[in-house]
Amino acid sequence: MLPCFLWLWIVLRGADSFSVRVPPGPVVVARGATALLSCEFEPDLNLSNLVVNWQRQEDDRVVHSFYYGKDQFDRQSSDYINRTQLNHNELAKGNASLSIANFGLKDAGKYKCIVSNGKGTGNGELQLVYAAFFSEPRLSIHLKSSNVTVQYEMEGYPMPEILWQGSGGQNLTDHQDEVLSASDEGLYYLKSSYVTQNSAFNVTFTLINPQQELHRHVILSYDENMNSGTSVVVLSILCCLLLCSTSFLLWLYCRAKQK
Ligand SMILES: *[C@@H]1O[C@H](CO)[C@@H](O)[C@H](O)[C@H]1NC(C)=O
Ligand SMILES: *[C@@H]1O[C@H](CO)[C@@H](O)[C@H](O)[C@H]1NC(C)=O
Ligand SMILES: *[C@@H]1O[C@H](CO)[C@@H](O)[C@H](O)[C@H]1NC(C)=O
Ligand SMILES: *[C@@H]1O[C@H](CO)[C@@H](O)[C@H](O)[C@H]1NC(C)=O
Repeated sequence: MLPCFLWLWIVLRGADSFSVRVPPGPVVVARGATALLSCEFEPDLNLSNLVVNWQRQEDDRVVHSFYYGKDQFDRQSSDYINRTQLNHNELAKGNASLSIANFGLKDAGKYKCIVSNGKGTGNGELQLVYAAFFSEPRLSIHLKSSNVTVQYEMEGYPMPEILWQGSGGQNLTDHQDEVLSASDEGLYYLKSSYVTQNSAFNVTFTLINPQQELHRHVILSYDENMNSGTSVVVLSILCCLLLCSTSFLLWLYCRAKQK
């Protein structure tokens, strides 16, 4: 009986061995922001034998290392020089969270937090996703005699879903989305245009991104009285001409009669 309990005790002890905790799901980081890669472990009072290694999962590039009580930059990948920071005050509390400044598309991917101290060794893996918020869409309207083009231009990342809807919420499928060559890595430059033969309309432009949803309304209307107003002016001019010519004819007639 006793050996059996002993065995169970060993197994349970093995099961709750040194654990390194990282966020389970992907973490979205905005372009240019400082990413915080969370990583927690069971602290040990003796910091001298603490080793923290942050590496890229894909190719084992060294992102940041800490051992012998200080940051070690000898093997750090050139991609991360001057961009990483480990808070030393937090290490004693079991917090090996790393910050990476100026996040870009190349930084997206998987990272490993490998920790070793007097209590054991363990590692956790987390994923970072890159995103860039779409800029405020810039509106332009092109009027032609046959149609009207409503166009929005904007840039961001990743490719968003774009909808154009009528005032009743119905999908307008006759829009064109154009992706222009990115001037900058990690940014799509987009143009979306809606062409209509209607001279008056109320449409809604919608952009949907994992992190963002934009709605912009475009209402084009014209003054109903504009045409009749023009007619009135034309009519007045005609009347005036008629009156003038009649008077002139009358005057000619009178003069002819006087002779
Ligand atoms: C890192 O920072 C140091 C000191 O500010 C600077 O001399 C060095 O050129 C920087 N390296 C890179 C790759 O930016
Ligand atoms: C861990 O350290 C980071 C960086 O200093 C800090 O932002 C974060 O709040 C800490 N996490 C915990 C759970 O204390
Ligand atoms: C335009 O349509 C939206 C619904 O998509 C509605 O809320 C709004 O009142 C309309 N505006 C005009 C001026 O008709
Ligand atoms: C419009 O299209 C989007 C996606 O293409 C869809 O999710 C939505 O339900 C549609 N709306 C209507 C009113 O059909």
